[in-house]
Amino acid sequence: MTGKACDLTATSYASSSADGWGLHSWRQKRILQQPDYADVAALEAARERLAKMPPLVFAGEARSLKAALAQVAKGEAVLLQCGDCAESFAEFSAPNIRDSFRIILQMAVILTFGGTVPVVKVGRMAGQFAKPRSEDTETRDGVTLPSYRGDIINDLAFTPEARRHDPDRMLQVYNQSAATLNLLRAFAQGGYADLNKVHKWNLDFVQGDLQAERYLDLAKRIGEALDFMKACGVTPSTTPTLRETEFWTSHEALLLPYEEALTRVDSTTGDWYDVSAHMLWIGDRTRDPDGAHVEFLRGVHNPIGLKCGPSLPADVLLRLLDRLDPYNEPGRITLIARMGADHITQHLPALLRAVKESGRTPVWCSDPMHGNTHKAGNYKTRDFSKILEEVQHFFTLCQAEGLWPGGVHLEMTGRNVTECTGGALDVTENDLAACYETHCDPRLNATQALELAFLLAKELKNAKRHI
Ligand code: PEP
Ligand code: CO
Repeated sequence: MTGKACDLTATSYASSSADGWGLHSWRQKRILQQPDYADVAALEAARERLAKMPPLVFAGEARSLKAALAQVAKGEAVLLQCGDCAESFAEFSAPNIRDSFRIILQMAVILTFGGTVPVVKVGRMAGQFAKPRSEDTETRDGVTLPSYRGDIINDLAFTPEARRHDPDRMLQVYNQSAATLNLLRAFAQGGYADLNKVHKWNLDFVQGDLQAERYLDLAKRIGEALDFMKACGVTPSTTPTLRETEFWTSHEALLLPYEEALTRVDSTTGDWYDVSAHMLWIGDRTRDPDGAHVEFLRGVHNPIGLKCGPSLPADVLLRLLDRLDPYNEPGRITLIARMGADHITQHLPALLRAVKESGRTPVWCSDPMHGNTHKAGNYKTRDFSKILEEVQHFFTLCQAEGLWPGGVHLEMTGRNVTECTGGALDVTENDLAACYETHCDPRLNATQALELAFLLAKELKNAKRHI
């Protein structure tokens, strides 16, 4: 993660560009899913403090990610984007960050070795705090309060004080994101990600866990391959990619006062970058081509993700692409299909075809989580078999159009939570209460994540033969 420094404040630069975009132009547009801050002076103060904070990422790093995503778009690599649905203040700890990082590394080696394809690793980490909600309020036992909108806005506890929208939370998010990124950079480049330690990433696995045993078997084969390479003179000192890895961060750019305050002009190129994360995405509920979120993100030069749900018509998708990527820039756009296993076959082909016929070559990736959520008693859950089914449909449909199935976007954690049902450990609806810790949507646990990675590796090997 290297790159040229950005300027620390945006204020010394012209605030608008020729095509009408400016740092504040989103404020003139219709906006959805925003907090209602009662104390406007407190919001202004928080915004001013954030605008003076150092960038969390560098523009040069965002450009490197764009170049890596351009490789994915060409079918030469695969995107693995994963992490929590919502990061939280309560779950913030070094072991949690390590466990999430480690499971992503494990999945990545399964894909690299089993699928024989390079993996671009992007965390939903170090900034994924704001959540879109279907209802503005929540009612329990006759009491109605504002909905929980993520720790960057309010607290999960069901009290009037906890649910108050508080702009100072943006500063706590900034600080937590900085600390998280610091540890991620250390893990990625400080020796933890050394491929010679591939077997050690699994030391605390549960005896009898089939996925963990499959992983250890693969780690043994990687060890043998590394021994062979060492004998040929290829070692971590000759080849740094054996001992360190590249890891990028991303989140949904939902809370625009926060994103605006962290958007700066890069001194190398003179372009605007949102330095809160390497990649930002637009959610399925805020993708109005004339709305504030699209307006804001069209002006920043980071790689941009766009969630594509079953209600997105092909002509609207093309309008969105015209706005967000007028020059069809390689690696700029990642389209994240989140249709649901039962809807993807009906809705995705029209989008794949329309985009292909327009001559565009974005990354296509599958979010098999958000279209497969249902309620089981008091818990939101997802059935692991539906998640696998959607991924398999995604691969089949992309290949039918002659397109590269570029990757996956997952909500998962490195711990063995019981939030999604099914998988090798066979979590049932009755088990959900045992370890249900998410602040928002249900995540895959470590075992389910490994199982999915093995399936993906098989699909990728197959896809490589077809493209
Ligand atoms: C999310 O990724 O957490 C999310 C809310 O997704 P979507 O916009 O696809 O519903
Ligand atoms: Co979610």
